[in-house]
Amino acid sequence: MSHVSRANLEGALALLPRARLAHLPTPLDFCPRLTEALGGPRIWFKRDDCTGLAFGGNKVRQHEYILGDALSRGVDVVVQGAASQSNQSRQLAAAAARLGLDCILMPRKDAHFEHVQGNQLIVRRFGATVIPIDANTSAKQAKQDMAARLEAEGRRPMILGMGAERALTLASVAYVGAYLELWAQLEALDEPMPTHLYVTSQVSTQAGLQAAAELLGHNVKICGINPMDARNEAYESPDEIAARCRAAADLLGFRLAIDAERINNSTDFVGDDYGKPSAAAQEAAELLARTEGILVDPVYSGKGLSGLVSDIKAGSLRKSDRVVFLHTGGLPAIFSYSSQYPL
Ligand SMILES: Cc1ncc(COP(=O)(O)O)c(C=O)c1O
Repeated sequence: MSHVSRANLEGALALLPRARLAHLPTPLDFCPRLTEALGGPRIWFKRDDCTGLAFGGNKVRQHEYILGDALSRGVDVVVQGAASQSNQSRQLAAAAARLGLDCILMPRKDAHFEHVQGNQLIVRRFGATVIPIDANTSAKQAKQDMAARLEAEGRRPMILGMGAERALTLASVAYVGAYLELWAQLEALDEPMPTHLYVTSQVSTQAGLQAAAELLGHNVKICGINPMDARNEAYESPDEIAARCRAAADLLGFRLAIDAERINNSTDFVGDDYGKPSAAAQEAAELLARTEGILVDPVYSGKGLSGLVSDIKAGSLRKSDRVVFLHTGGLPAIFSYSSQYPL
């Protein structure tokens, strides 16, 4: 397969509508004390927990392209339904407020619904309309029903998250941009690209990073750690992640032949279930906090970090390897899990 030049990839991204929401570039921090504590490869953190808007996270970067596209098509209301502690809902509500879009959120009445803390506390600050749905209701269906109702009322709705094909692809496109950003930062430090790029991802973030590496012909192993598995409605398989890589490339005007065999996305660190803290994630979070003063959350970034720590301890990475952990954020969830932390 012939590869795409950096200039062509940057050019293709620049043609897309984009709403500026994030503080970019996000910092790239070398983590000497974590590296030393684990005794393995050198580790950098790419701080997408620091994208700025409403406590930051990977979705702020994604919303730049999703909502840029929405505005260019005359969308006037965005609809999202997910777990009650959804980070995307928080970042979406803030972005919608900033861009003057109406926002309807349909949180599930799950185990964290009653205790209004963390993300749930925050979304209410941005004026979003909150319409809770039963814990076992399909959020995908609820969003589609809501969008149909809004259309019947003459509104121009756009669904985000699970089931929203175009939005998920645009979310990946944003991470093609993040990959280029990381490359430029490492170059400025006179460092080569990492051998391994770890990220907590269901689909879009990993697919964007992977699509960028494949299109550019870089030999960077993208190691996705999935916060959920096939029991969850929002789970996406390696086949679906590969399809999202192809769709992201396609949207940028390039052809990418990639299938599930190239996708490393592990469900080994989910623990008991999505949204349930795991001992390994809590331990990894403590280690990071005590060595680098960086926080991760128990639902997403903590589980991703537990994947990296476990791989290093298992000897799967060589000391000569170079790792970047892309921190996707999720920090407000810490407050809704306060009972899980030793005092
Ligand atoms: C903190 C955090 N990390 C990772 C993800 C997964 O992102 P993606 O679906 O783009 O892979 C999410 C999604 O909500 C998230 O909130």
